[in-house]
Amino acid sequence: MFWGRFMTLPLVDQLSDKGLLKEQAYIGGRWHNALNNETFEVVDPATERVIANVANLGAEQTALAIKLADTAMREWRAQPAKSRSEILERWYQLITDNVEDLAIIMSAEQGKTLVESRGEIAYSASFIKWFAEEGKRVYGDVIPHAQNDRRGITIKQAIGVVAAITPWNFPSAMITRKVAPALAVGCAVVLKPAAETPLSALALAELADRAGLPAGLLNIITGVDAVAIGGELTSNLLVKKLTFTGSTPIGKLLMAQCAASVKRTSMELGGNAPLLVFDDADLDLVIPGIITAKFRNSGQTCISANRILVQKGIHKEFVERLKLAIDAFNFGAYSSSESTHGPLITQKAVDNVAAKVNKAVLEGATLVCGGQIVDRPGHFYAATILTEVTDKMSIFHEEIFGPVATIYQFETDQQAIDLANDTPFGLAAYLYTESMRRSWQVAEALDYGMIGVNETAISAEIVPFGGVKESGQGREGSKYGLDDYLEIKYICFGSMNK
Ligand code: SIN
Repeated sequence: MFWGRFMTLPLVDQLSDKGLLKEQAYIGGRWHNALNNETFEVVDPATERVIANVANLGAEQTALAIKLADTAMREWRAQPAKSRSEILERWYQLITDNVEDLAIIMSAEQGKTLVESRGEIAYSASFIKWFAEEGKRVYGDVIPHAQNDRRGITIKQAIGVVAAITPWNFPSAMITRKVAPALAVGCAVVLKPAAETPLSALALAELADRAGLPAGLLNIITGVDAVAIGGELTSNLLVKKLTFTGSTPIGKLLMAQCAASVKRTSMELGGNAPLLVFDDADLDLVIPGIITAKFRNSGQTCISANRILVQKGIHKEFVERLKLAIDAFNFGAYSSSESTHGPLITQKAVDNVAAKVNKAVLEGATLVCGGQIVDRPGHFYAATILTEVTDKMSIFHEEIFGPVATIYQFETDQQAIDLANDTPFGLAAYLYTESMRRSWQVAEALDYGMIGVNETAISAEIVPFGGVKESGQGREGSKYGLDDYLEIKYICFGSMNK
């Protein structure tokens, strides 16, 4: 009860450290209003209340940030990796020390529950710690040369100024998973967070500042004009690389814009993840696994189980048990300790999900539960199960991005594999079986960048996150996560026998 009253306070009054709530952009180590003093509103999706008014920047201030980043990077990349690592370690520690405030900021702007936000902050911080360590292990090669009097080596060097564009569904972790490897190897970053969730990005910048990150290495460009800001990030010749997490159509557009100056890109794009449940699966594992994979962040994740393919023999029991688990959900605002799931990000998102569900029902799917917009303030859609869904329906091909479980039936393993691969996307896939042989065979046959076998919580800083096909290119996290921010330089030493 006390907590509920507390949460009706203005956001700033909910924080122990009020300095973490920033409404200005961060450029060259200083806080900036927009040149014309324009701002845009940030709204709590659970209450529709305005929680902040943030500086609305455009192309001109983006260009300034890029210039300052380019200058700052020259000194930064010349430092020993160990010195850069020490600053990243301090940043990690400050984030960890401020988990509660950062979680409140995230829940207020994004809607996810405090439990989920605390989890994301820990996940977010883990990338900084990981890359602080990995950044010290950037090795080159000595290559046995074809000519007797020559020696070849390779060294790896920071690629240059990095532009990053990040989404609203994970307002903190998607930032650190890009920024930490970039900074660790000596790059500088100009980052545009989603206009729905700029506050988490600005709080991270404040803590980076307190950690002693030199001015100009991390710049946060807030604004609603994605065309102007994105246009500058992709056309400015000082930017050497663009990293983006978001939808496939926008990713394609950004790649095309980057082509003009041959910028390196890495893309973490849309998904259409299948989750295969075979007859021999252990439903005690499957049901909690699906609750995570399908309903984490109310279904707003790129690796959400978008198509649940269930073998005929287990289908009836599976649907009954899934419905029981969903009946226990409680959608609500982060201010209520009873909320198990938060809202969708906007009313448009709710309308999109509703349209997909309605169309599937018109096309012949059976509505087991849910299927309606929740009648209360905020952007809530009820947890929904659809059965009798087939690959002939439009929902088979669409990323739902909401709390809707679509259940398909299959008979043979090959049928399940064919259905699972029948999509241009290839981010994550999951399968549940107690057979080791089947898990190997199916995992190898699925055209996806990440596979969870009897597990859906597959993400962590130590493993590679990324997709194939139209789900993107490049890998974030893990020992591979540095590669996207490095250039390989070959050096040939000649006349060695003289
Ligand atoms: C995403 O779905 O966009 C990210 C999810 C994760 O990192 O686990």
